Amino acid sequence: MAGNWKMYKTPAETKAFFDGFLPLVAESKHCEVAICPPFVNIPTAVEATRGTRVGVGAQNLYWKNEGAFTGEISGPMIKATGAEWVIIGHSERRQYFGETDATVLDRTKAALAAGLRPIVCVGERLEEREASQTEAVLAEQFNGGIAGLDAESFAKIVIAYEPVWAIGTGKTATPDMAADAHRAIRALVTAKFGAEAGAAVRILYGGSVKPDNVKNLMAQPEIDGALVGGASLEAGSFASIVNF
Ligand code: 13P
Repeated sequence: MAGNWKMYKTPAETKAFFDGFLPLVAESKHCEVAICPPFVNIPTAVEATRGTRVGVGAQNLYWKNEGAFTGEISGPMIKATGAEWVIIGHSERRQYFGETDATVLDRTKAALAAGLRPIVCVGERLEEREASQTEAVLAEQFNGGIAGLDAESFAKIVIAYEPVWAIGTGKTATPDMAADAHRAIRALVTAKFGAEAGAAVRILYGGSVKPDNVKNLMAQPEIDGALVGGASLEAGSFASIVNF
C-alpha cells in the first residue's frame, strides 16, 4: 500500500502526518506500506519512520548519477537519504513533463542500479479506453518500457496500473475493470519473462482509491495493492486503506 503525495505537504506537515499515522498502522503486518512525499520531505519522513515497518519513497529520479542537470535528483542521492522506493512513469509525469516509455526504462534501470525499489506506472487515457485501446496502450507502455529490463531486474519492480481517467477524478475503475487490466499486464509479463515472473509480479491499482472502495478492489485476487494519491494525505484515511 503506497501513498503518492504528489506536490503536497511541507516538512512540518510531513512530521505531523507520521505522528498521526504510525500508531494507526503499528499492528499492520499484512502488507508493505510506503509513503512517497516530495523530495524535500524525504529526510523528515525517513527520520519519522525509522524502526517502523513504513517505508519511504521518492516520486521520480533522473537516470544519471550526477552532473550538470539543473533541478534533477539522482538515484544515489535518494538512496543516501534512506529512502527505499521510487515511483517512475506516473501519468502526470508523462502528461506534463514529457516522460516517455524509453525514459521510464532509463529511470527504472537507474533506480535498480542505485538499490531503490521502483514502482513503475502504466495506464490508459479516457479516449484510449473509449476507443477500446486499453490493452494496446498497456502493451505499448510495457513493450516500449520495462520489457527492456533483464529478468533479474524485472523481478525487483512493482507495477502500478493507474487509468488516467480515474486519477483525482473520484471515478474509480470498477474492481472488474481493474482486474481485467491487471490480467492483461500479467499476460504481457508472462509472455516476456515467463510464467513464474507473471505469477510473482505485484500489480497495484491506483486511481481514486478511498477507504470506502479499497475493500472491493482488494477482494480481486489480481489486485495486489494500491497506489493512493489524495486519500494518502490524511493519516486516518490512509490508515483505513492500509487496514482495509
Ligand atoms: P488519486 O488517488 O488522488 O486519484 O491519485 C492516484 C494516483 O495518481 C496515485 O499515484
